[in-house]
Amino acid sequence: MKDEEIKKIVRDGYAKVVESGSSCCGLSSTCCGSSESEIIKDMSKNIGYSEEELNSVPKGANLGLGCGNPVALASINEGDTVLDLGSGAGFDAFLAAQKVGKTGKVIGVDMTPEMISTARKNADKSNFNNVEFRLGEIENLPVSDEVIDLIISNCVINLVPSKERAFQEAFRVLKPNGRLMVSDIVLLKELPDFIINSMEAYIGCVAGAVLKKQYLKTMKNVGFEGIKILDQTSFPIDVLTINPRFLETIKQMNMSNEELKDMAKSVISIKVEAIKKERKIDKSLKLQVDIYVPLNACACEWSQYMNRIFEVLTPYIKYIEYETKPLNSVEARDLNISSNCVLIDGEKKYTSAFALKRDLPRILKEKELM
Ligand SMILES: C[S@@+](CC[C@H](N)C(=O)[O-])C[C@H]1O[C@@H](n2cnc3c(N)ncnc32)[C@H](O)[C@@H]1O
Repeated sequence: MKDEEIKKIVRDGYAKVVESGSSCCGLSSTCCGSSESEIIKDMSKNIGYSEEELNSVPKGANLGLGCGNPVALASINEGDTVLDLGSGAGFDAFLAAQKVGKTGKVIGVDMTPEMISTARKNADKSNFNNVEFRLGEIENLPVSDEVIDLIISNCVINLVPSKERAFQEAFRVLKPNGRLMVSDIVLLKELPDFIINSMEAYIGCVAGAVLKKQYLKTMKNVGFEGIKILDQTSFPIDVLTINPRFLETIKQMNMSNEELKDMAKSVISIKVEAIKKERKIDKSLKLQVDIYVPLNACACEWSQYMNRIFEVLTPYIKYIEYETKPLNSVEARDLNISSNCVLIDGEKKYTSAFALKRDLPRILKEKELM
């Protein structure tokens, strides 16, 4: 199934959840029909929320959809800008808002319009003035580069088809030394195909989950460092088995209780933290650029060529050490270069200004000079 189709099913699923106020993901063991039910409260306490926290958020913000309490483990400072990925009806965003205070700000992003409008209503009725909810996708965050101190997320990234894109976006919006604190569902071993293909299991935060080591590797690949699992618990599969359609699928597969229990053991909830470390750029290091010009070129050819090259180099001039080197054809042959070309760090040759323009920012970033 295509990513967009999966997202539509997830969006429709969560629109129904918020409209009915019931819980079909997270660690809740019932789709009970009341967001304020004692069952949701008990379940939230089980995954790390205190009575005080539960009573401090607007009614209807806690839909029992989380699988941990990312706010409890994250150190949130007054004045911080916090981003909640997949903020739902706003539960964790409201908890974070109390910690960042008047000088801070919390932004919740969710792709389900019904979630966003419920979260906004919740904020209005309880006068939370430092929380803002934005409709958008985690894969294309409606947030500028490097403006966030802390990202939290609760039981959401498992639902995003491209985890890599989700983490890349998280990395982009974090300030240098910004932190990520995520509660999520991952797997210890692959699930059977019939579960992977069940959209009920997808919305239930199971089928979209990936192996724990793959999840952590994706975080590392996009640039996160200091990746640490702070907590790991098993995910009660009865969250799914109370769903009649899912139960029917299991029956059709003739799955025994033992097989079901075995499968349940491989689905776990983790709390993971990571940091986007500030990259220290050594300003004294520069990229060596040798601009070779044929010795016998006429003044007009020479200046046209230099103009083209300088047009490319000028935006990056502070990162570059350049030298112009007139070259005769014998020297050019000995150096195995064409007599008008640009040599980067004595190795990469460019005869076209277009290719140089295309590659230069990437080379500077790779060499950590920019
Ligand atoms: C399991 S609920 C968790 C809600 C909230 N974090 C909580 O703990 O109450 C998942 C939420 O993520 C949102 N979501 C799923 N995929 C998303 C995506 N690609 N972009 C933005 N939001 C997404 C859903 O709309 C839903 O509100």
